[in-house]
Amino acid sequence: MIALISLVLACAKGADTDSEPTDSPQGVDSAVDSAPQPPPLFQNPAEAVDQDPDTDAFELTLSAAPLDFSIGELQVSGYAYNGQVPGPVIRLQPGQQLLTQIDNGLEDQTTVHWHGANVPFEMDGVPWMSSPIQPGASMDVDFTLSAPFTGWYHPHFDTERQVDWGLYGVLIVQDPTWPTPDHELIVVADTWGESPDQGHHSGFVFQEHDWTVNGLSQPVHPVNGGESVLVRVVNVSNMGYLALSADTLRVVAFDQGLLPAPITDSPVVLGPGDRAVLELSPSDTDIVLWSQPWSVAGEHALGEPFELMRLELQESGVQHPGLDFGWSGTAPTADPGHTDLRYVFQGDEQTGQWRINGEAFPDVTIGSIPPGEPAIIEVRNLSATEHPFHLHGMHFEVLSIDGVAPQHQRIEDTLNLEIRQTVRLLVNPENAGDWMAHCHILPHAEGGMMTVLRVE
Ligand code: C2O
Ligand code: CU
Repeated sequence: MIALISLVLACAKGADTDSEPTDSPQGVDSAVDSAPQPPPLFQNPAEAVDQDPDTDAFELTLSAAPLDFSIGELQVSGYAYNGQVPGPVIRLQPGQQLLTQIDNGLEDQTTVHWHGANVPFEMDGVPWMSSPIQPGASMDVDFTLSAPFTGWYHPHFDTERQVDWGLYGVLIVQDPTWPTPDHELIVVADTWGESPDQGHHSGFVFQEHDWTVNGLSQPVHPVNGGESVLVRVVNVSNMGYLALSADTLRVVAFDQGLLPAPITDSPVVLGPGDRAVLELSPSDTDIVLWSQPWSVAGEHALGEPFELMRLELQESGVQHPGLDFGWSGTAPTADPGHTDLRYVFQGDEQTGQWRINGEAFPDVTIGSIPPGEPAIIEVRNLSATEHPFHLHGMHFEVLSIDGVAPQHQRIEDTLNLEIRQTVRLLVNPENAGDWMAHCHILPHAEGGMMTVLRVE
């Protein structure tokens, strides 16, 4: 099953409807016969175009609508933003206003949540205070982001199903101080058929190895030795973990901003919702981006590492010394020792009941912290599975993991908690609101592992 799917998973998604016919889902049908197909060519998702370049603001219409596309040999009826899966990459400059009109062309209500972006609460896309967008209706969203980051956008209503069916896209605030690489690749990694409504993806059996990159199975991208390659990886899977490694790999950023120094430890574990910016430096061979099978039980799962994608060497050259980001070396903030809020994660696979502080959303006790004052949150995982903890509305600095401070400062909005791990986080909330705090494994969130942090 796996091999079969890999072989024919060609250019399924990732192509917008305006691109050449060979990239369209129809192209797959004619290609499905006989001899082994060459691996598909990597393609970045098409970028959003500013609809009014005469102003400083970035103006965009984002239309959610049904779309038929293929995942390998399977024709599926899914959802797309602006007719493409992944949706358009929205790329902003720091301080640039984003004006979005969201059109709901679905038969169901929807919202758009800007994952990792500190937006005003009314724009956060949670159907908690602002109601969801009705079918056929529109909503205007207006916000300005100052901090460079790699984020994404997705519905926060009927989330498990709508995200699984293809509603997601990448949101980037550029850092103008970054050096320009020879290649910037945007890797939206997904797995399929995870939502409860399996019949919809009829015949699709979820397999851990069936990852796609921008809708392609194991795409290749041509490079030359000596070139610099930055890869922004976003894990949009409902519940799949990536555990990445590659020759020459160094991590230059996670969720928020540049790291103070590059990290070369591997594997780089990215749970659902998490992101990393990787630098790869080819010289005289291909570089394969591997993912080790990873279990939410917090360890290498059985099985061989599988190839997520590959940089295919065209011409050899002397390895690039690594882009000069002007590393700051900033040390982490010292833990002041007190605790303002505690979240304890519990639950198990058997019951599907997932809890924070013993409570299941929406029957939760709302913790409060005042705006403009730093606060310490301690999150403890007492369950036998891992959980990517995600906080809306504010970023957090990782003060310690099981009592050990990171070597350098690390700012995140999504952080994987290993089994029985305790992390201490520093937040500096600016925007008032009722912010969601939850596990980003979507069945866990759906199973109750979600609470609300009030800033007032
Ligand atoms: Cu990406 Cu509340 O989520
Ligand atoms: Cu979880």
